[in-house]
Amino acid sequence: MKSMGEVIKTLMPELISVSEIGRYTCDGCKNEVVVIQSPIVAGPEKGKLIDYKRGCVCWENEQAREAKREQRQLQVKKMFDKYSTVSPDLEKASFENFNMDNSTLEQAFKLSVEYANEFSLDNPKNLLFAGMYGLGKSHLSYSICQALKKRGFISVFISVPKLLTVIKSTYNKNSDFNEAELLNVLSTVDFLALDDIGAEKVRKEEEGDSWATEKLFEIIDGRSGRHTLYTTNLVSDELSRKVGQRNFSRMMMNTKPFRFEGNDYRINNKMF
Ligand SMILES: Nc1ncnc2c1ncn2[C@@H]1O[C@H](COP(=O)(O)OP(=O)(O)OP(=O)(O)O)[C@@H](O)[C@H]1O
Ligand SMILES: [Mg+2]
Ligand SMILES: [Zn+2]
Repeated sequence: MKSMGEVIKTLMPELISVSEIGRYTCDGCKNEVVVIQSPIVAGPEKGKLIDYKRGCVCWENEQAREAKREQRQLQVKKMFDKYSTVSPDLEKASFENFNMDNSTLEQAFKLSVEYANEFSLDNPKNLLFAGMYGLGKSHLSYSICQALKKRGFISVFISVPKLLTVIKSTYNKNSDFNEAELLNVLSTVDFLALDDIGAEKVRKEEEGDSWATEKLFEIIDGRSGRHTLYTTNLVSDELSRKVGQRNFSRMMMNTKPFRFEGNDYRINNKMF
């Protein structure tokens, strides 16, 4: 059988230069592997040299896994692009443009960078960022999400009140996807930031036992064994009452809470 490199070379001999750059025995599959280098032929990375490990079963499996992940990332993106849930003021938020005006924010920053760097699928850890308005909770959560995406993890940042609206919209018969599909994606992504949990509108008498409580349960319970980050303006007692003890108990499992303190970044130096 001809290799991919050989086929391409036959089809476009003047365009492509494919060259063998080495041979070795793979420790994993024990096969004799031929390393072939060839430039990408089209797209934004055109011309970039890629190594192909002909004969290595491990490499082929890795390529297949990678392709599957890319496909899933695209599917997730499609689903969430339709209902953009990131407010414009967060779109540019990153670790690089986070200012540390006090030692609490410095600690929050370190914790977030560490979390993103140490993130590993087989060691699930959750974070809970609590504190008053405009302290950078969403900014750091969004930055973690972006950093993880760059590392190839399927990551979603979503505001809980908006998410509940999105779920409701799936009940509309013209919706592009259904509730089960959406809940399935949310429970299987590698990282989910549930922003502003506890800010959802619920009638006082229904707190802890509402439609929202039930939906949150499906998401939170479905994520056990995966990484989730929560942000909230509420303190533990209030949050437990708002989302219900059954949800709160699951939220706190394997979770490191961190309390933000400082001045509201949105109104800083704008007192009148
Ligand atoms: N330390 C900071 N450095 C740079 N920008 C910041 C910092 N803190 C907050 N901001 C910016 O201020 C705005 C508000 O911050 P953010 O949304 O993170 O607050 P929050 O703690 O999530 O507040 P809320 O509880 O009201 O949701 C955002 O645009 C964010 O990018
Ligand atoms: Mg926020
Ligand atoms: Zn191999």
